[in-house]
Amino acid sequence: MAHEIKWSSTKKEEKYQELLPQIKALMEGEPDIVANLANVASALHQAFGFFWVGFYMVKNNELVLGPFQGPVACTRISFGKGVCGKAWKDRKTIIVDDVEKFPGHIACNSASRSEIVVPVIQNGIVSMVLDVDSDQLADFDLTDKIYLEQLCVFIADKYA
Ligand code: SME
Repeated sequence: MAHEIKWSSTKKEEKYQELLPQIKALMEGEPDIVANLANVASALHQAFGFFWVGFYMVKNNELVLGPFQGPVACTRISFGKGVCGKAWKDRKTIIVDDVEKFPGHIACNSASRSEIVVPVIQNGIVSMVLDVDSDQLADFDLTDKIYLEQLCVFIADKYA
């Protein structure tokens, strides 16, 4: 079976609606978490052209870089630090329209302009975060939040 993802719409909401079932189907056929997170990062990166898409995993009370697509990135983020560390601490999705205006933002790459971070919460505990960066200002909105949260709930349930 060819592992391909396809979409026809150029509208963001419809694209998510086309992609999510395909991403879930890909994950259903594979138990390994690293393999699955790698494909999730690839699918989102390819379909939306985001500058950077990846996961940071909670390990020994730090976020450690996991599977991603895009330029090399910071490998470790402390609890509460940056957008990722804050999403972990607050256990909530954070959308940043302009990273330069977010106090404590961690600039892994100077081309990043806006960002969304979604925590993956398993049994009330954040186990990882999904971080998506754009090279455009204010590139993320409620649509991204809704569908990326759905995806993170799926990941949480699969590995709970
Ligand atoms: N900007 C993030 C760090 C991760 S990179 O963007 C890939 C932050 O402030 O947490």
